[in-house]
Amino acid sequence: MTPNINNRKITFEPLSQEHKEALQLAMQLRRAGTEQSKESAEEIREQLSDFWENGGLAHFREEEELILSAYARYQDVDEIPEVSTMLLQHVKLRSLIQQILEAPDANIEKMRLLGKMLGRHIRLEERVIFPMIVKSMPIEALSQLGMKLRSG
Ligand SMILES: [Fe+2]
Ligand SMILES: [Fe+2]
Repeated sequence: MTPNINNRKITFEPLSQEHKEALQLAMQLRRAGTEQSKESAEEIREQLSDFWENGGLAHFREEEELILSAYARYQDVDEIPEVSTMLLQHVKLRSLIQQILEAPDANIEKMRLLGKMLGRHIRLEERVIFPMIVKSMPIEALSQLGMKLRSG
């Protein structure tokens, strides 16, 4: 058990670090337009744009192209509902982010919805998906995956 736990930390560390930053953004988005927010909705939208262009989009791709495709060598992913949920969340999150960034003005309703969905999505990955992958993949494959994530 212990090597798995250590390995998980090492393998997913880069993504987990990005998750922490994304959770901060999710909180800002949920607070958009409320008294709790120090930034204007437009400023939060700019943060979202920065997040998406400087790592967010790449993060989604790494999860799909590196992590899930590696995992699919060891598990029948179409039999795992959490994987379907994760991918569908990616589609919905991408769509919502595009809608928010392409609109002429900041849409507070959509930004708050995105904040909720993003938080839920990260929790699914951290609490369910990553631990599940760690249990199913051999340690060597996990460390290769970790190296790819670091070089990407
Ligand atoms: Fe994701
Ligand atoms: Fe993620």
